[in-house]
Amino acid sequence: MNDKEYIFQTKDLSIYYGNFKAVTNINLNIERNKITAIIGPSGCGKSTLLRAFNRMNELSTGTRIEGGIQFAGQDLYAPDVDPVEVRYRIGMVFQKPNPFPKSIYENIAWGARIHGYNGNMDELVENSLKKAALWDEVKDKLRQSGLALSGGQQQRLCIARALAVQPEVILMDEPASALDPIATLKIEELMQELKKDYTIVIVTHNMQQAARASDYTAMMMLSEDGKRSGTVIEFADTTKIFTRPSDKRTEGYVTGRYG
Ligand SMILES: Nc1ncnc2c1ncn2[C@@H]1O[C@H](COP(=O)(O)OP(=O)(O)O)[C@@H](O)[C@H]1O
Ligand SMILES: [Mg+2]
Repeated sequence: MNDKEYIFQTKDLSIYYGNFKAVTNINLNIERNKITAIIGPSGCGKSTLLRAFNRMNELSTGTRIEGGIQFAGQDLYAPDVDPVEVRYRIGMVFQKPNPFPKSIYENIAWGARIHGYNGNMDELVENSLKKAALWDEVKDKLRQSGLALSGGQQQRLCIARALAVQPEVILMDEPASALDPIATLKIEELMQELKKDYTIVIVTHNMQQAARASDYTAMMMLSEDGKRSGTVIEFADTTKIFTRPSDKRTEGYVTGRYG
């Protein structure tokens, strides 16, 4: 019996920058309401793969895909799918916190307003900040600039901003790499809270973070044929990847014997 619900299914997915095939032949099923980590050495295509999940790659010219991605059972790249709408349903949080140079309140209200939200904005701001575990720290200074917050707070503000448009998925590209260990743990705790309502896909080169925070892990590596294209070499429960990996290269990487 298979009672898993997959929110993303990639089929023979390859991703190009011009003539360069950065990512080759990915077949991955991402389960809903779980945290899936993508790990692997620098340059193996983790960010490229992540950005394909909300069509962010298309923002740079010359990118294209082969194969496909199903999102909630529908072709994410079908001609009638609006990539802007996709990016609301599938939010993204980046390596470096990037709040708008606006107030904390406006950081959250702005996107929601553009997206056509016409409910109670104060409530939306409060709820989004609560979901991002930031409310208590900022509730008395909502009109202050988002840029005046600490790095960890800025990252949680960016998460709150993503949540305010009611996404189904949050993609995170090394969301804690610019943060100190305490702020990092806060983000990881928050992820556990969020997965009740959202699906999270996180790229990280921090092995401990993947081991602590994720349910599933996809191990990526460059091909050994000299073409320097990345692919997923192993995908399994995180526990298995870190204790009983099937592939020698995964074992080498997670035990720190690689590169
Ligand atoms: N916008 C881009 N244009 C051209 N090549 C790119 C672009 N972004 C990434 N690449 C190349 O694609 C490969 C994978 O990059 P990336 O996905 O950033 O890897 P990772 O996130 O695993 O470090 C690298 O060779 C990188 O130089
Ligand atoms: Mg990257």
